[in-house]
Amino acid sequence: MMIRKKVTVPELARMKRDGRKITMLTAYDATFTRILEEAGVDMILVGDSLGMVIQGGQTTTTVTMDEMVYHARIVSRGVRAAHLVVDLPFMSYQASVEDAVRNAGRLLKEGGAESVKLEGGRERAAAVRAIDQAGIPVMAHIGLTPQSIHKLGGFRVQGKAEEQAMRLLEDAKILEEAGAFALLLEGMPASLATRITQSVSIPTIGIGAGKGCDGQVLVIYDLLGMDNTFNPKFARRYAQLHEIISGAVRTYIDEVQAGAFPGEENSY
Ligand code: KIV
Repeated sequence: MMIRKKVTVPELARMKRDGRKITMLTAYDATFTRILEEAGVDMILVGDSLGMVIQGGQTTTTVTMDEMVYHARIVSRGVRAAHLVVDLPFMSYQASVEDAVRNAGRLLKEGGAESVKLEGGRERAAAVRAIDQAGIPVMAHIGLTPQSIHKLGGFRVQGKAEEQAMRLLEDAKILEEAGAFALLLEGMPASLATRITQSVSIPTIGIGAGKGCDGQVLVIYDLLGMDNTFNPKFARRYAQLHEIISGAVRTYIDEVQAGAFPGEENSY
């Protein structure tokens, strides 16, 4: 197996400068992490989307710091070359800058993260600055920010109106100035994401933000088609695992019931 070079924060900056697209996917456990590493993804995100795809919640707002640390720790065991980013969950950084630094530190010390991600624009600049000054690389997530779902009123594309678009563009520049090493642009018009990408020198990773970003991220379960009822416009299913897994499980049930499993070859 070829040993890949470690993807570091400076390497991600070089990738933007060289025009090499950055790939990022979520992982929540060791098995998926191993597969993503072997496939050669640049960045792995332990996203608080785990509140929905792992825990079955309607939003990400119920995820706790302890849960993020738990998933970060098991993913970090399998991380080799990819850069590991871990989400700061809702209310782990909003109340104070001290909370933000302390909880970002926990994700590195206890979870094995290499960087952290938080949601929000200019209102998070102080937290971004303090986390960065603590020596922790921090990525800022703007546009559709799922932790603010109740304020946004739903999972809606942001920045469609000119005034809101200008605000997001300014937020991107403020966050870069505050020390963010990258921006995650979620749910915004492709033209706005392209404009932001061209206006900052740090890499932008998009989801539902068009092809003009420096990289792309998807929730791994969406890419694999694990939920046959969820087919959003921003994602592409590269496999139909819901059908494959349920077919395999049905076959197993049939074979056990018919006495066809276990066979001689499965028996001691
Ligand atoms: O939590 C997450 O998985 C994310 C992605 C939607 C990018 O932030």
